[in-house]
Amino acid sequence: MELDTILARLSENTGIAEPFGASHFPIYQSATFDLKKQQGNKKYDYSRSGNPTRDALSYVFTKAEEGAGTICTNTGVSAVSLLFRTVLKSGDSVLVERDCYGGTYRLLNMLREKYSIHFHFADFTDLKSIKSNLENKSINLVLCESPTNPGLKVLDLTNIAKLCSEFEVPLAVDNSLATFASQKPLELGADFSITSATKYISGHGAAVAGLITAKSEAWAKKLYKYANAEGISQSPFEAFLISLGLPTLICRMKAHEKSAIQIANYLLTRSDILEVKFPFLSNHPQYELAKQQMKICPGVITLNMVSQEKAEQFVSKTKLFGEKASFGSADSRIEQPIKISHASYPKHELDLMGIDASTIRLSIGLEHPDDLIQDIESALG
Ligand SMILES: Cc1ncc(COP(=O)(O)O)c(C=O)c1O
Repeated sequence: MELDTILARLSENTGIAEPFGASHFPIYQSATFDLKKQQGNKKYDYSRSGNPTRDALSYVFTKAEEGAGTICTNTGVSAVSLLFRTVLKSGDSVLVERDCYGGTYRLLNMLREKYSIHFHFADFTDLKSIKSNLENKSINLVLCESPTNPGLKVLDLTNIAKLCSEFEVPLAVDNSLATFASQKPLELGADFSITSATKYISGHGAAVAGLITAKSEAWAKKLYKYANAEGISQSPFEAFLISLGLPTLICRMKAHEKSAIQIANYLLTRSDILEVKFPFLSNHPQYELAKQQMKICPGVITLNMVSQEKAEQFVSKTKLFGEKASFGSADSRIEQPIKISHASYPKHELDLMGIDASTIRLSIGLEHPDDLIQDIESALG
């Protein structure tokens, strides 16, 4: 069955028996469950360890990501943290694509300070650099996003996965931007696919949550063990809110992409913008790879404006773009990454990524693109 059909008929595809033919699966908002009243394998006792609403979301996600199991966590960051805690021990090292979410960078720094878990940055568009890191350093985990955030570099996940497997190092891909609607990291060879469900998956800006899917049952079991021990499980209400976004995910992603292409092309015509980064623009350095690897391009555009002043004018004068963290919601957003999403990066790292006060990240929402272009035009003059 195609993914669109599975998602549209969500409640029939959760692996949980629902006796009333409900059109959406229910919220089991209960802390505990009576073992005496359960038939069969008496699966549920306490909601931190297991909950039918969370299990329904986990089941669908595992199917969609083509993995062996999914852990639903309380935030996207806690899914990243769960990965680190499960895979790494003190003294271990992670190889990370330099252009990654600021919260991931903050977490890596804390793990280094407190638990001597080290990290090395590399430019993952250069496969030789990944190989030489794997050859010359003792690396225990490789982590990247593709497209990267906010630089929107597209990484060759198939060949990165081949390298990791050659060196027997697990590869984790943060798929928050592309989502499984566009690309499936596990199918391309990764061992873990992580998603901040706060973004496109939820799609309505109403919930904060994360998911991590493992390719193997062995890793899925280990992830579950740590998630339960640390108590970072997603609440049933959050799992329900997240699941509401799934039936419309694919068509929302297509609508975000369509508007973003129109807007990116308009932005290319402006003399106050030095660079427009969008993977499905033919001037993008990894355009061919992006087209081959992603079915749909997420609606995020990164810009380098002529000056900091112009960038600040853009942020403050637009009316249809909220100055908000996050991306992937129905409403459009604008930010200077150095102030919000990447505020935890020091200046020298931002310089290496080519990000400064003139950099703007736009998340194109579901408003009519003509209205968004008009808003941009009147903000920038
Ligand atoms: C790529 C990426 N991964 C993970 C996260 C963290 O997700 P959350 O905000 O749900 O904790 C973010 C948040 O912006 C992100 O952009």
